[in-house]
Amino acid sequence: MQRLAVFACCLAAACSGYAADPAVLAKKSGCLNCHDIDKKVVGPAYKDVAAKYKDNKNAEAMLIEKVKKGGSGVWGPTPMPPNVLVSDADVKTLVEWVLSQK
Ligand code: HEC
Repeated sequence: MQRLAVFACCLAAACSGYAADPAVLAKKSGCLNCHDIDKKVVGPAYKDVAAKYKDNKNAEAMLIEKVKKGGSGVWGPTPMPPNVLVSDADVKTLVEWVLSQK
């Protein structure tokens, strides 16, 4: 219901509430069980991820695959499990949001 309201607000062109939405999506998708924006939990802080890939043009496509399939070895030995329940569109939104953290 909340997403519908955000969508309706975007259609009305006054999109001011939209910026907060990826954070809601991240929570709903379970990402924030293992990640936080500015501190390491099980996985790396999203600010650290954004900093690591800030000059990497391929990062978005690469990270979309990584989030979908999971993997380990970039930040440490702890693996990220595949996030199979999250839709492709939501993964893209989430990765763009992660990369926009500063
Ligand atoms: C069960 C814990 C867990 C969950 C749930 C989880 N992650 Fe992760 N995530 C990790 C770990 C651990 C790593 C570090 C993997 C590595 O070192 O390669 C990671 C790494 C990442 C990275 C950086 C990958 C890289 O190669 O640099 C991104 C981006 C990311 N996660 C996004 C997400 C998103 C978006 C979600 C939700 C859809 C999510 N994660 C859910 C544990 C998790």
